[in-house]
Amino acid sequence: MEVKKIFVVGAGFMGAGIAQVGAQAGYEMYLYDIAPAAVEKGIAGIKKLLAKKVDKGSMTQEALDATMNLIKPSSSLDDAADVDLVIEAVYENADLKKDIFSKLDAICREDCILATNTSSIPITSLATAVKNPAKFIGMHFFSPVPVMRLCELIRAIKTSDETIAIVAEVAQKMGKTTVVAKDVPGFIVNRINSAMRCEAYKCLEEGVATIEDIDKAMKMGANHPMGPFELADFVGLDVNYSVLSTLYAGYKDNKFAPNLTLEKLVTAGDLGRKTGKGWYDYSSGEKKPRTDVKF
Ligand SMILES: NC(=O)c1ccc[n+]([C@@H]2O[C@H](COP(=O)([O-])OP(=O)(O)OC[C@H]3O[C@@H](n4cnc5c(N)ncnc54)[C@H](O)[C@@H]3O)[C@@H](O)[C@H]2O)c1
Repeated sequence: MEVKKIFVVGAGFMGAGIAQVGAQAGYEMYLYDIAPAAVEKGIAGIKKLLAKKVDKGSMTQEALDATMNLIKPSSSLDDAADVDLVIEAVYENADLKKDIFSKLDAICREDCILATNTSSIPITSLATAVKNPAKFIGMHFFSPVPVMRLCELIRAIKTSDETIAIVAEVAQKMGKTTVVAKDVPGFIVNRINSAMRCEAYKCLEEGVATIEDIDKAMKMGANHPMGPFELADFVGLDVNYSVLSTLYAGYKDNKFAPNLTLEKLVTAGDLGRKTGKGWYDYSSGEKKPRTDVKF
């Protein structure tokens, strides 16, 4: 099967990025969200990013127009009736995702592939929501999607080789390098990164160094583009917390135990950059140490 039309469910941070790289690769992209304002915001954000490329001379106005024409706003799951691939990127909640996939299963063509961008929910458990789990796969992009070069493909226990091959081709056309991982908690990148981030949290708790110095150390000493706290704020502390909870439950290994301060920040609604405060304070428009919280 040749993929031509793709339906993205969830027009947030990841969904909008996926719609962008898909359209840039020439796919007809439908962008759906339960909140129509999210679709509008997502499409406006894509246009703004592409306009910057036009300003810099790395994209022509014609290419921008052609890309934007390939992105169709959608206000109904029924628009997925004739697509070849669905990529789901709604909140990280297993019941919500299963409910959406069971609805899509009744709407989509039989040969349509259903993919989830979940960071941490077992793909095999989400695949139980559909009739044909051979067509179900994890397609894990990294943020920001237009910038990050990897897409992990997750083989659930019944995912077929054909599904993996088709989705790999799509991701590669979107400019991503693909790797195939088994359906284990955290897959490859989040498993390794989470263990490292937990060590950073322990360093903070033990008073080894400040947040700023831990970030500085990992940037200067290990050549990471962002320190572990900056990266957690960038990805979202709620996503970070949910990934750690899944790893902890999956491996039953204390090394992944979610940090208590992280839990409190999430409870307080300080989710990182997107809410203006996380491990750092961004409310002035710049990244600053927090003065309202004692870490
Ligand atoms: N943020 C990251 O760095 C990152 C990286 C890789 C994977 N992911 C995964 O991608 C998914 C989305 O993450 P995000 O950061 O884009 O979240 P987000 O909060 O930015 O966007 C989620 C969107 O889903 C929409 N939504 C909620 N319920 C819906 C429903 N019933 N139908 C349609 N849309 C619905 C929301 O309105 C929202 O716009 C999650 O599973 C997350 O774990 C996130």
